Amino acid sequence: MRNILSFVVFAVAVILLSIVVASPTSSPWKYNSLVSSSPSSDTPFFREDFYADTCPGVETTIRSIVIELFVNDSTIAPALIRLVFHDCFIGGCDGSVLLNSTNGGEAEKDVIPNQSLKGFDVIEEIKSRLEAVCPNIVSCSDILVLAARESSGGPFYELRTGRKDSRTSYPPTALNEIPAPTDDLDTILAKFSDRGFSTSETVSLLGNVTTIT
Ligand code: HEM
Repeated sequence: MRNILSFVVFAVAVILLSIVVASPTSSPWKYNSLVSSSPSSDTPFFREDFYADTCPGVETTIRSIVIELFVNDSTIAPALIRLVFHDCFIGGCDGSVLLNSTNGGEAEKDVIPNQSLKGFDVIEEIKSRLEAVCPNIVSCSDILVLAARESSGGPFYELRTGRKDSRTSYPPTALNEIPAPTDDLDTILAKFSDRGFSTSETVSLLGNVTTIT
């Protein structure tokens, strides 16, 4: 019974997060330069079933792969939920958290709040399998939001796709803006408010997440 309850609150948390991340124009991204490259709900390129013509069945394929991987390792579900949260919180859902550090500098994925993230291998696995059938079509940022949706276990919710992957990583923003366990309530509410969450949405989201983690 406890497992079922946890599962339900988990799904509610994911849906709440997805409603906000799926509405990019409602979120005033304050500290980054990705506003112009973030998908807008007003553009025809950001819509449900964006890949219908170019990679038909991609969402079903991603669902199958997530289920297949989940059967062998159930920890991929919470890992992907956390990964999409950390991606979307910094510059929108642009896949910037997936970029690797280079000789030129440390990437977002390697700053302290992101050092315990998992699930990168799952995104790579899905991307590599999709490349075999639809080369250079499906963005990693779309793969991440779609895989995270499947990780919620339902109920199903529609997602718009057509994101472009960021070529830029934002390590200082990630370091300073991803909520830390040591943040006080005002700081946490301010960080979520900067991304368009009301106080009650933040409390609902964190209440659900705290129940399951
Ligand atoms: C104040 C906000 C938050 C703080 C301070 C926070 C912090 C943390 C920390 C410290 C962990 C443990 C990481 C580790 O394994 O070492 C964690 C795990 C997790 N967080 Fe958050 N988190 C927050 C909000 C959220 C939100 C909004 C979501 C989802 C929408 C989320 C989803 C998760 C999940 C699913 C895990 C488990 C990951 C896994 O088992 O692989 N968190 N969080």
